[in-house]
Amino acid sequence: MDASPAILDCRGLPPALAVLRIKQAAITSQGTDTPLRVVLGAGCEPQDISDALADIASRVRYVIADGDTGPAAPSSWWQRDDLRYHGGRLHLGGTDLEELAGQVGTPTYVLRASRVRDNIHRVAAALSHAGVEHRIYYAVKANRSPALLAYLRTRDLCGVDVCSTGELMHVLGCGFPVEAISYTGTSLSARDIDVLSRFPGLRVNVDSLSSLARLGRAGPGREIGLRINPAVGVGYQDKELLTYSGAATTKFGIYPEHVDEARTIAEQWQLRVVRLHMHVGCGYLDGQLGQLAAAFDAAGEFLDAFADLREINLGGGLGVPHTATDQPLDLTVWADTIAARFAGRGLRVAVEPGDYFAKDAGLLLTTVTSVEQRREVRFAGLDAGFNLAMEPAFYGLPCEPVAVAPRWAEGECTYTVVGNINETLDVWAAEHRMTLLREGDRVALLNAGGYAASMRSDHCLRGAAGEVLLIDDDPADRPQPAARRAIGGQ
Ligand SMILES: Cc1ncc(COP(=O)(O)O)c(C=O)c1O
Repeated sequence: MDASPAILDCRGLPPALAVLRIKQAAITSQGTDTPLRVVLGAGCEPQDISDALADIASRVRYVIADGDTGPAAPSSWWQRDDLRYHGGRLHLGGTDLEELAGQVGTPTYVLRASRVRDNIHRVAAALSHAGVEHRIYYAVKANRSPALLAYLRTRDLCGVDVCSTGELMHVLGCGFPVEAISYTGTSLSARDIDVLSRFPGLRVNVDSLSSLARLGRAGPGREIGLRINPAVGVGYQDKELLTYSGAATTKFGIYPEHVDEARTIAEQWQLRVVRLHMHVGCGYLDGQLGQLAAAFDAAGEFLDAFADLREINLGGGLGVPHTATDQPLDLTVWADTIAARFAGRGLRVAVEPGDYFAKDAGLLLTTVTSVEQRREVRFAGLDAGFNLAMEPAFYGLPCEPVAVAPRWAEGECTYTVVGNINETLDVWAAEHRMTLLREGDRVALLNAGGYAASMRSDHCLRGAAGEVLLIDDDPADRPQPAARRAIGGQ
């Protein structure tokens, strides 16, 4: 016996009539638990239809034309209020990405400023709620777009973390005053030391005994931060490449067994160690908060070693989901984890996320250049290669290519989505299920707001890409008058 119910074919109906038809079918089939399987036509957006159906929406399963290949894309894990299909096209905030691609061309990085702002606010609110006195920096290495930095500065959203003297000059050029900047670099050169010693008021965190001694010699008597390495770390999916202070010995920070030596060097140059800094890894999610707590616990033994401490900087590392099975961070638990270890000790807590603030606020808009079957694999080629967003190729981070104007009514297909660079690692996603693609279609690569544009290279001379910052026309999003600015958080 065929248990599958009939499909309600709404193709050819405008949205209002499709809603009516589904409601009638729902009334007729009242009392059964069987879902209503519905095929929608062009111009009918499942999300909009569901909104109009209200309670009935939970009974509806949208299927594609042949009715047996599962639900259509609108239920995708990554959709949220400001990243969703509307009228059959992907929108970021109020911007129709198909239209934008037609105007500015591809490849183009598109970043939504208000999403970055909301991400910052969420982190600040969680820390405040947990009773943590805090200061927030944005790790510029994630995305150094001057437009974004000017936005952050003029809205007084946060300070900035820089990791090189180049980034230092860049953020100064974007309007951040020295008091709003935190510097944590590695492998400092003589030139770096020279530049840093010209900014005695800059919060500098050194990550090696060598840098400590050389900075002390160049500028005795200054306040300084020490980057520590608690030898416990955490990274997305426990990837070692994303774990900065795990089992493997890394170049980052002073290990517990070198603390005495660090103190001796600091005393020699009258450096006051007022800050400890740690950054234990990148991309951690909810399931890894226990491991993060273990890293914080391991850092505890450093706290008593320095009498002048005023601040502990916990770095960044907060991750965002990359797949349907990734559990997003519960910021309440995250902030409570911090509060339990560092609040109430007379220390201010600083954090400097990059990814969490920028990554899910952006995407890389591309165009399909070719669709071709080779043996058992159906390839979809894009006009953007791994050099424009290196994390999938370098760190094995999952990439989510999504159609900007999906052909839901035509069914789905499994594609291996590739770029335009002559390297075998130039694969965005293998065996990726998508609605049917044609040459010329637009595809958005999600989560490209962080570590994409900032890491891009000109490999194969294919590094050219546009950059667009979307700023909502919202009174709440206007620049703050200078008089009201209190730099870098609480
Ligand atoms: C010292 C330091 N702070 C902050 C960050 C930002 O990390 P994330 O973007 O994972 O939050 C990094 C990243 O490498 C870092 O090295």
